[in-house]
Amino acid sequence: MKRAVIRGIEASIPEYVLNNQEIEQLVDTSDEWIRERTGIVERHILKQDGLGTSEMGADAVRKLLAATGTSVDEVDMLVCATVTPDMLFPATANIICDKVGIKNVWGFDINAGCSGFIYSFTAVDAFIRAGRAKKIILVCGERMSGITDYTDRNTCPLFGDAAVAMLVEGTDDPNEGLIDYEHHVDGIGRHYLYQKAGGSCYPPTAETVARREHFIYQDGKTVFKYAVSNMADVSVAMMEKNNLKPEDIAYLIPHQANLRILAATGHRMGLSDDKILVNIERFGNTAGTSIPLVLWDFKNRFKKGDNLIISAFGAGFTWGALYYKWGI
Ligand code: UT7
Repeated sequence: MKRAVIRGIEASIPEYVLNNQEIEQLVDTSDEWIRERTGIVERHILKQDGLGTSEMGADAVRKLLAATGTSVDEVDMLVCATVTPDMLFPATANIICDKVGIKNVWGFDINAGCSGFIYSFTAVDAFIRAGRAKKIILVCGERMSGITDYTDRNTCPLFGDAAVAMLVEGTDDPNEGLIDYEHHVDGIGRHYLYQKAGGSCYPPTAETVARREHFIYQDGKTVFKYAVSNMADVSVAMMEKNNLKPEDIAYLIPHQANLRILAATGHRMGLSDDKILVNIERFGNTAGTSIPLVLWDFKNRFKKGDNLIISAFGAGFTWGALYYKWGI
């Protein structure tokens, strides 16, 4: 049975860099606090009105098609993981297909918060295993700036925008591709990390706008506690299940929410700092896009067959880990 492997990966990064000094002008905070508590120095923001996640997603897909020599007719499916769709409906996957001229395919969006990549990659792997698709484009994209309240110091230093597109194919080679996964969900998370209004529960009104309920709300301290224990537990469980010792693991690719959380995860796994890949200082938290953004950023460092543990925790709560062997 074939399993999913990433054959190409390209990113779209908005030009505008929002640094900590500019955040200092917006809210009562300091560069020092943001660096020490989160590890973030700057993040990229898609500034222009009327441009959503699909704009970056389509840009990344065009680069991917060119880089991998793939024609639009070869693509079987396009899946997009996002919590910042262009609109509540139609799906951003459909809009990206239209923008890049991919026809006669099907696809959908996946909403799994910061676990967007791990959930969606596992979902497309199932289509590959079932023999129902040969070439799938997976896009992870977020325009977090569109739902970030730049008057709220608890959340506005955290988030950034980006999109990454991956070409996913099937492989029989035991030395590459998705080997194992473990995912979890706990709906208690909806009380601590959410965008309250704009859905069917609280449709938009002048009052919801005045109460700033269309922006991200996060109880950071509570989310931190859940994230730091669950991300470490699931990563260690993935190692134990697959008899992996720290020396067998080339790199941990953790969701980039907070330097303290991802370092704690790596240390619980017995990994040295050089095996814990980090780019949060340049991109902030790009939600479900952060993991593929690390894969793209560090791709020249990986060798075929490298054992990667990829783990995430996010809104829902959702969390999980992949055991993946690099295949480019
Ligand atoms: O990606 C999806 C999942 N999300 C996460 O995993 C995020 C998890 N949470 C976190 O990363 C951290 O909780 C934050 C970075 C959001 C916050 O860091 P913290 O160390 O947990 O800070 P805190 O919320 O406990 O606040 C500590 C203090 C408070 O002041 P008092 O009450 O001690 O006087 C806050 O008011 O820091 C204050 N504070 C700030 N001060 C300066 C909160 N935000 C800021 C700020 N600048 N931006």
